[in-house]
Amino acid sequence: MMNASADAPAGDVSVIVPAAGSGERMGAGPRKPYLTVGGEPILLRTCRRLHELTDVFEIVVVAHPGDIDQIQQELWTDLHAVGVELIVPGGQTRAQSVWNGLEVVSAKAEVVAVHDAVRPFFSLDTMRALVSTARRRGAAVPVSPFLDTPKRLEGDKILETVRRAGLVRTGTPQVFRSDLLIEVYEYRMRTGELSDRITDDSQLVEAMGAEVAAVLDGDFNIKITSPTDLRLAEALLAAGLVE
Ligand code: CTP
Ligand code: MG
Repeated sequence: MMNASADAPAGDVSVIVPAAGSGERMGAGPRKPYLTVGGEPILLRTCRRLHELTDVFEIVVVAHPGDIDQIQQELWTDLHAVGVELIVPGGQTRAQSVWNGLEVVSAKAEVVAVHDAVRPFFSLDTMRALVSTARRRGAAVPVSPFLDTPKRLEGDKILETVRRAGLVRTGTPQVFRSDLLIEVYEYRMRTGELSDRITDDSQLVEAMGAEVAAVLDGDFNIKITSPTDLRLAEALLAAGLVE
């Protein structure tokens, strides 16, 4: 197996892959990143795809502390072959996990992307667009139109209908100039906490008043969250809608 660090990668993009969640909505069994889709562990599939981008010189996986021994024994060779340089333990919240990854990102990184381990079908073209937009504007996130009628709920009662105009859904990869992402995380560490209300990285940039650019994403960048998503992922692959 080829050693990823041996082929002197030329890029300046480091990718943090948070994979340290407990997968509560998926239910019992191995944690989500180690379930297979198309016969391959989801985490490996995601990293393999990231490695296709020539700008990416390093992938940092943030894993659940309880999974690290097993990854090292069973998955490290394959992960390292597709550009994974480091595996670090995650924290109680996604933001804490991302911070743990950010702390070990190489000083060579001009741009840092954060991409959920459980989104194996992200579009390479979208990611290229996100990287070039982030270089120019500091921060870029993928968006898709919000097609349903959004409502706010309290218990089982609808409180109100939220105006749909201007609403989008966002996911990952989210891409940042590294100095900006480090600054917003350090600021948050000093002034607040990395609570579970921080569900993406962009919101920390937004909270500082800095600009985040939106890049239109495709339709198939699903986040594998529930058992239904796992079946949907297999169906998308079988239908040839994703690779
Ligand atoms: N994540 C993480 N550290 C956490 C929580 C989440 O690295 N403390 C990661 C997950 O592993 C996943 C991504 O963030 O790749 C998106 O989170 P989500 O889909 O919510 O995964 P889980 O938190 O594992 O699932 P659940 O919320 O159902 O427990
Ligand atoms: Mg979660």
